[in-house]
Amino acid sequence: MHHPEDDTISNPSSNESFESILERNLSRRQVLKGGLGAAAVAMFGPPLFDMNKALAGTDSAGLIGFTGISPSTADTVRVPAGYSAQVLYRWGDPASAGPAFLQDASNSAADQMVQAGMHHDGMHFFPFPKRGAGRSIQYSSDRGLMCINHEYTDDGLLHPGGMSPWTAEKVAKSKAAHGVSVIEVRMDEDGEWKVKRPSAFARRITGDTPIRISGPVAGSDWVRTLADPAGLTVLGTLNNCAHGYTPWGTYLTCEENWNGYFVNRSGAIPAEQRRYGISANGFGYRWHEHDERFDAARHPNEPNRFGWVVEIDPFQPQSRPVKRTALGRIKHEGAIVTLARDQRVVVYTGDDERFEYIYKFVSRDAFDARASSAAHNRDLLDHGTLYVARFNADGGGEWVALEHGRNGLTAGNGFSSQAEVLVKTRQAADRVGATKMDRPEWIAVHPVTGEVYCTLTNNSRRGAAGQPATDAANPRANNVYGHIIRWRESGADNAALSFQWDVFVLCGDPANADPAKRGNIVGDIYGSPDGLWFDDRGVLWIQTDVSTSTLNRGDYANMGNNQMLACDPATGETRRFLTGPRGCEVTGVVATPDGKNLFVNLQHPGETAAERGDPANPKAVSAWPDGEAGGRPRSATVVIRRDDGGVIGS
Ligand code: FEO
Ligand code: CA
Ligand code: CA
Ligand code: CA
Repeated sequence: MHHPEDDTISNPSSNESFESILERNLSRRQVLKGGLGAAAVAMFGPPLFDMNKALAGTDSAGLIGFTGISPSTADTVRVPAGYSAQVLYRWGDPASAGPAFLQDASNSAADQMVQAGMHHDGMHFFPFPKRGAGRSIQYSSDRGLMCINHEYTDDGLLHPGGMSPWTAEKVAKSKAAHGVSVIEVRMDEDGEWKVKRPSAFARRITGDTPIRISGPVAGSDWVRTLADPAGLTVLGTLNNCAHGYTPWGTYLTCEENWNGYFVNRSGAIPAEQRRYGISANGFGYRWHEHDERFDAARHPNEPNRFGWVVEIDPFQPQSRPVKRTALGRIKHEGAIVTLARDQRVVVYTGDDERFEYIYKFVSRDAFDARASSAAHNRDLLDHGTLYVARFNADGGGEWVALEHGRNGLTAGNGFSSQAEVLVKTRQAADRVGATKMDRPEWIAVHPVTGEVYCTLTNNSRRGAAGQPATDAANPRANNVYGHIIRWRESGADNAALSFQWDVFVLCGDPANADPAKRGNIVGDIYGSPDGLWFDDRGVLWIQTDVSTSTLNRGDYANMGNNQMLACDPATGETRRFLTGPRGCEVTGVVATPDGKNLFVNLQHPGETAAERGDPANPKAVSAWPDGEAGGRPRSATVVIRRDDGGVIGS
């Protein structure tokens, strides 16, 4: 079975695409650095907004200081000479004090509710604040909270015997293995990281956790169900892919391939469900057999309650997570936050499916960094304007507002309210002629220039019969390796309504027999870029997600297992920093404030070419990280440190 995210096309619209040239002179600008909890803001004053920070490495040749490693098919995590990787938090490990993982996967659903979920993805480290000299605030680089997404389950590995027989207990366990972990972590004197158990902050948010609906869609007819007639409370968040974090200290987790949990066997799937890829069988999770809300024919509004960005306050363990509907309903990859010149909040988010779009939200009100403004900041993401990107052939582009009553989004055209515009975000974007992209994955904002980079992971259907042709922003037909696009907002203001863009890199293997596929990477090679993150020094970290059906075969024969690379955005030079175990995807990366501890997630080690584990032989592909003594491969967070204690990557 192919991973559905790699397979789906739901966009039949005929909006136009374009052709182009590049623009490179990028001005510099200083943006925020967030990470302090709302509770901590109240205690210690405003979070660290490092507006005067200069980039250490931008002008020097020495931004990247390690020696790149070779591609690898070894079943281990490899890092450069002088670095070490330590496993910190594996699927099944208790989030706080709680039941241990059982190697035969016989833990119950109740156990799973308090253990690490499967398939770690985006994550963020929220350092604990501490008092520095005088009244200054410092940020700990050895203690903090980690929020970690658990994107999806491989039910072949999740249960003894896999999915046979299929039971209500297995559905409950599968839902419990989704969502988010909040864990407390600390480093000891020897440089070893540990999960603190028990911790008052630790919690699991799962596919059944009550979550408040907020923003324009809350309480509307679109989200009312039999179980929730008020349309205000959803059970669960699903397919939590990448993430974001806010300057007021909250975590954003993003619902990506949520459509796959629903089935509609009516034989007449409504257009609004088809546009989001809801099908007769979904992705084979079979939850509807024991939880009928996942039957989209019987409960047609239940799917409208997924596809959102969810805000979590990790420092308030009793707080209810919130679905922020003003940010639109798509298959959100991530939600990257920065600030406009006037301190309004800007959130970039991509819709990861072939021929879908890139969006940005700009809040109505400005962020206020004063400690007394926690209440003001709390609901900033409920009021603002959602825009979608049009990449023009001349290297310019614009952000088109998805606002009821504007740009043809009227009742006469099927959009009766802002709630309807947001529930049908994809259709609204079709209507305004957004540019169809080659699967937008992560987005990263340069810490000084404010330039925005976005991975477009691949799209083998680009240019195929009956599919959209190439355009300037998606210039390769049969784009098997993907590319990274970037843009500079007008006036170097992330709230601007126009931008200049270029293709930063066309990924690929220069040894490919087909010149059209080779790309223009400078340095170590890769394809299918997905995770993307700037560290504070301005190094662009790139993580790959080559599907396991393609890994080490065909166009990917020379590239080894999925990997992470460091790239100097000024020169384009790329060096391979990490190779993952067999069958994994490398996704999720964040550092401590001092840059000396790098957290990386290894997702779905041991995934087979069929893209589902074999319950009879779970270690057929990988035994990582527990080795042969373990029962099955497990997704895990690792911590990477330099043996000399230095800054990672320098
Ligand atoms: Fe969950 Fe598009 O990656
Ligand atoms: Ca991804
Ligand atoms: Ca991917
Ligand atoms: Ca994947």
